[in-house]
Amino acid sequence: MNENIQNKKSHEATIYFMTPDKRDSRELSELEAICFPPNEACSPEMVEKRLCAMPELWLCARDSETGKTVGFICGYASSKERITDEMFVDTALYEPDGANIMILGVEVHPDYRGRGIAEALMEEYKSKMKAMGKRKLVLTCHDRLIGFYERFGFKDMGLSGSKWGGETWYDMECVL
Ligand SMILES: CC(C)(COP(=O)(O)OP(=O)(O)OC[C@H]1O[C@@H](n2cnc3c(N)ncnc32)[C@H](O)[C@@H]1OP(=O)(O)O)[C@@H](O)C(=O)NCCC(=O)NCCS
Repeated sequence: MNENIQNKKSHEATIYFMTPDKRDSRELSELEAICFPPNEACSPEMVEKRLCAMPELWLCARDSETGKTVGFICGYASSKERITDEMFVDTALYEPDGANIMILGVEVHPDYRGRGIAEALMEEYKSKMKAMGKRKLVLTCHDRLIGFYERFGFKDMGLSGSKWGGETWYDMECVL
Protein backbone atom coordinates (compact mmCIF):
# COMPACT_ATOMS: atom_id res chain seq x y z
CA MET A 1 0.00 0.00 0.00
CA ASN A 2 2.83 2.45 0.77
CA GLU A 3 3.33 3.40 -2.82
CA ASN A 4 5.88 6.19 -3.28
CA ILE A 5 4.92 9.22 -5.26
CA GLN A 6 7.34 11.70 -6.73
CA ASN A 7 6.68 15.31 -6.03
CA LYS A 8 5.20 16.75 -9.24
CA LYS A 9 6.65 20.26 -9.12
CA SER A 10 9.92 19.74 -7.25
CA HIS A 11 12.47 16.98 -6.99
CA GLU A 12 13.18 17.81 -3.37
CA ALA A 13 10.79 15.45 -1.66
CA THR A 14 9.62 11.89 -2.06
CA ILE A 15 6.38 11.24 -0.30
CA TYR A 16 5.12 7.95 1.04
CA PHE A 17 1.84 6.95 2.65
CA MET A 18 1.45 5.36 6.04
CA THR A 19 -1.14 4.66 8.71
CA PRO A 20 -0.37 6.60 11.91
CA ASP A 21 -0.94 5.56 15.50
CA LYS A 22 -1.38 7.37 18.80
CA ARG A 23 2.36 8.16 19.02
CA ASP A 24 1.79 10.52 16.07
CA SER A 25 -0.98 12.50 17.75
CA ARG A 26 1.16 15.50 18.70
CA GLU A 27 2.54 15.92 15.19
CA LEU A 28 -0.91 15.53 13.62
CA SER A 29 -2.46 18.03 16.06
CA GLU A 30 0.22 20.54 15.17
CA LEU A 31 -0.51 20.08 11.47
CA GLU A 32 -4.24 20.50 12.16
CA ALA A 33 -3.53 23.83 13.92
CA ILE A 34 -1.35 25.01 11.02
CA CYS A 35 -3.88 24.08 8.33
CA PHE A 36 -7.13 25.30 9.88
CA PRO A 37 -8.19 28.52 11.64
CA PRO A 38 -8.89 28.06 15.38
CA ASN A 39 -12.68 27.89 14.95
CA GLU A 40 -12.38 24.99 12.47
CA ALA A 41 -9.40 23.05 13.87
CA CYS A 42 -10.03 19.94 15.98
CA SER A 43 -8.46 20.01 19.42
CA PRO A 44 -5.37 17.91 20.24
CA GLU A 45 -7.58 15.83 22.55
CA MET A 46 -9.93 14.95 19.72
CA VAL A 47 -7.10 14.15 17.35
CA GLU A 48 -5.66 11.78 19.95
CA LYS A 49 -9.03 10.17 20.71
CA ARG A 50 -9.70 9.56 17.01
CA LEU A 51 -6.24 8.15 16.48
CA CYS A 52 -6.71 5.72 19.36
CA ALA A 53 -10.25 4.71 18.30
CA MET A 54 -9.80 4.38 14.53
CA PRO A 55 -6.15 4.52 13.38
CA GLU A 56 -7.00 2.44 10.28
CA LEU A 57 -9.19 5.29 9.01
CA TRP A 58 -6.25 7.70 8.90
CA LEU A 59 -3.80 8.03 6.04
CA CYS A 60 -0.68 10.18 6.30
CA ALA A 61 1.71 11.46 3.65
CA ARG A 62 5.27 11.63 4.94
CA ASP A 63 8.41 13.21 3.55
CA SER A 64 10.89 10.34 3.33
CA GLU A 65 13.86 12.65 3.90
CA THR A 66 12.65 14.39 7.04
CA GLY A 67 10.30 11.65 8.28
CA LYS A 68 7.74 14.38 8.95
CA THR A 69 4.04 14.11 8.21
CA VAL A 70 3.17 16.69 5.57
CA GLY A 71 -0.50 15.85 5.04
CA PHE A 72 -3.28 13.55 6.06
CA ILE A 73 -6.85 12.42 5.60
CA CYS A 74 -8.84 11.16 8.55
CA GLY A 75 -12.20 9.46 8.48
CA TYR A 76 -14.89 8.19 10.81
CA ALA A 77 -17.02 5.14 9.97
CA SER A 78 -20.76 5.55 10.33
CA SER A 79 -24.06 4.15 9.08
CA LYS A 80 -25.24 7.76 8.68
CA GLU A 81 -25.32 9.51 5.30
CA ARG A 82 -24.13 12.94 6.43
CA ILE A 83 -21.61 14.49 8.79
CA THR A 84 -23.01 15.99 11.98
CA ASP A 85 -21.08 18.35 14.24
CA GLU A 86 -21.16 15.79 17.08
CA MET A 87 -18.91 13.50 15.02
CA PHE A 88 -16.10 16.05 15.27
CA VAL A 89 -16.09 15.84 19.07
CA ASP A 90 -17.56 12.47 20.05
CA THR A 91 -15.81 9.21 19.24
CA ALA A 92 -18.64 7.29 20.96
CA LEU A 93 -20.69 7.76 17.76
CA TYR A 94 -18.07 5.80 15.80
CA GLU A 95 -19.56 2.67 14.20
CA PRO A 96 -16.62 0.50 13.08
CA ASP A 97 -18.87 -1.54 10.76
CA GLY A 98 -20.62 1.52 9.31
CA ALA A 99 -20.61 1.44 5.51
CA ASN A 100 -19.86 5.13 5.07
CA ILE A 101 -16.71 7.07 5.85
CA MET A 102 -17.17 10.61 7.11
CA ILE A 103 -13.98 12.47 6.21
CA LEU A 104 -13.26 14.89 9.05
CA GLY A 105 -9.93 16.21 7.78
CA VAL A 106 -8.02 16.69 4.51
CA GLU A 107 -4.93 18.78 4.91
CA VAL A 108 -1.48 19.43 3.52
CA HIS A 109 1.24 21.55 5.12
CA PRO A 110 1.52 24.97 3.38
CA ASP A 111 5.14 24.27 2.35
CA TYR A 112 4.02 21.16 0.45
CA ARG A 113 0.87 22.44 -1.27
CA GLY A 114 0.38 22.56 -5.03
CA ARG A 115 2.41 19.39 -5.61
CA GLY A 116 -0.47 16.94 -5.99
CA ILE A 117 -0.17 15.55 -2.46
CA ALA A 118 -3.85 16.01 -1.56
CA GLU A 119 -4.84 14.40 -4.85
CA ALA A 120 -2.51 11.43 -4.27
CA LEU A 121 -3.71 11.07 -0.68
CA MET A 122 -7.34 11.06 -1.81
CA GLU A 123 -6.76 8.45 -4.52
CA GLU A 124 -4.92 6.22 -2.06
CA TYR A 125 -7.57 6.75 0.60
CA LYS A 126 -10.36 5.82 -1.83
CA SER A 127 -8.57 2.56 -2.70
CA LYS A 128 -7.93 1.78 0.95
CA MET A 129 -11.58 2.36 1.96
CA LYS A 130 -12.90 0.39 -1.01
CA ALA A 131 -10.64 -2.52 -0.05
CA MET A 132 -12.10 -2.32 3.47
CA GLY A 133 -15.58 -2.78 1.95
CA LYS A 134 -16.77 0.78 2.56
CA ARG A 135 -19.51 2.17 0.32
CA LYS A 136 -19.22 5.92 0.31
CA LEU A 137 -16.93 8.80 1.31
CA VAL A 138 -18.75 11.80 2.74
CA LEU A 139 -17.33 15.21 3.63
CA THR A 140 -18.23 18.84 4.21
CA CYS A 141 -16.36 21.73 2.63
CA HIS A 142 -16.46 25.45 1.97
CA ASP A 143 -18.02 26.48 -1.36
CA ARG A 144 -14.56 27.45 -2.68
CA LEU A 145 -13.44 23.79 -2.47
CA ILE A 146 -16.45 22.18 -4.20
CA GLY A 147 -14.63 22.14 -7.55
CA PHE A 148 -11.52 20.70 -5.91
CA TYR A 149 -13.43 17.68 -4.58
CA GLU A 150 -15.44 17.25 -7.79
CA ARG A 151 -12.10 16.47 -9.47
CA PHE A 152 -11.84 13.40 -7.24
CA GLY A 153 -15.32 12.07 -8.04
CA PHE A 154 -17.28 13.78 -5.24
CA LYS A 155 -20.75 15.18 -5.93
CA ASP A 156 -22.09 18.39 -4.46
CA MET A 157 -25.10 17.41 -2.31
CA GLY A 158 -25.99 20.98 -1.33
CA LEU A 159 -25.98 23.02 1.85
CA SER A 160 -25.00 21.02 4.92
CA GLY A 161 -26.74 20.91 8.29
CA SER A 162 -23.27 21.22 9.85
CA LYS A 163 -22.41 24.55 11.43
CA TRP A 164 -18.95 23.46 12.56
CA GLY A 165 -16.87 26.48 13.63
CA GLY A 166 -19.84 28.77 12.96
CA GLU A 167 -19.25 28.38 9.20
CA THR A 168 -21.42 27.48 6.19
CA TRP A 169 -20.60 24.04 4.73
CA TYR A 170 -21.57 22.00 1.70
CA ASP A 171 -22.14 18.23 1.78
CA MET A 172 -20.24 16.15 -0.74
CA GLU A 173 -20.16 12.42 -1.33
CA CYS A 174 -18.27 9.92 -3.47
CA VAL A 175 -19.60 6.40 -4.08
CA LEU A 176 -16.68 3.96 -4.06
C1 LIG B 1 -7.01 21.96 0.12
C2 LIG B 1 -5.62 21.34 0.30
C3 LIG B 1 -5.75 20.03 1.08
C4 LIG B 1 -5.02 21.06 -1.10
O1 LIG B 1 -3.76 20.40 -0.94
P1 LIG B 1 -2.68 20.31 -2.13
O2 LIG B 1 -1.75 19.19 -1.83
O3 LIG B 1 -2.10 21.65 -2.36
O4 LIG B 1 -3.60 19.93 -3.38
P2 LIG B 1 -3.09 19.28 -4.73
O5 LIG B 1 -1.76 19.84 -5.08
O6 LIG B 1 -3.22 17.80 -4.68
O7 LIG B 1 -4.19 19.86 -5.74
C5 LIG B 1 -4.82 19.08 -6.70
C6 LIG B 1 -5.49 20.02 -7.65
O8 LIG B 1 -6.49 20.81 -6.98
C7 LIG B 1 -6.21 22.20 -7.14
N1 LIG B 1 -6.39 22.87 -5.86
C8 LIG B 1 -5.56 22.81 -4.80
N2 LIG B 1 -6.04 23.57 -3.78
C9 LIG B 1 -7.20 24.11 -4.25
C10 LIG B 1 -8.16 24.99 -3.70
N3 LIG B 1 -8.05 25.50 -2.47
N4 LIG B 1 -9.23 25.33 -4.48
C11 LIG B 1 -9.39 24.84 -5.74
N5 LIG B 1 -8.49 24.01 -6.31
C12 LIG B 1 -7.43 23.65 -5.59
C13 LIG B 1 -4.74 22.27 -7.54
O9 LIG B 1 -4.53 23.44 -8.32
C14 LIG B 1 -4.51 21.01 -8.29
O10 LIG B 1 -4.88 21.18 -9.63
P3 LIG B 1 -3.76 21.05 -10.81
O11 LIG B 1 -3.29 19.60 -10.75
O12 LIG B 1 -4.55 21.38 -12.02
O13 LIG B 1 -2.71 22.02 -10.45
C15 LIG B 1 -4.64 22.30 1.04
O14 LIG B 1 -4.67 23.56 0.38
C16 LIG B 1 -4.96 22.51 2.51
O15 LIG B 1 -4.50 21.76 3.37
N6 LIG B 1 -5.75 23.55 2.82
C17 LIG B 1 -6.07 23.88 4.22
C18 LIG B 1 -6.99 22.85 4.84
C19 LIG B 1 -8.28 22.70 4.07
O16 LIG B 1 -8.96 23.67 3.72
N7 LIG B 1 -8.65 21.44 3.81
C20 LIG B 1 -9.88 21.09 3.15
C21 LIG B 1 -10.94 20.90 4.17
S1 LIG B 1 -12.54 20.57 3.44
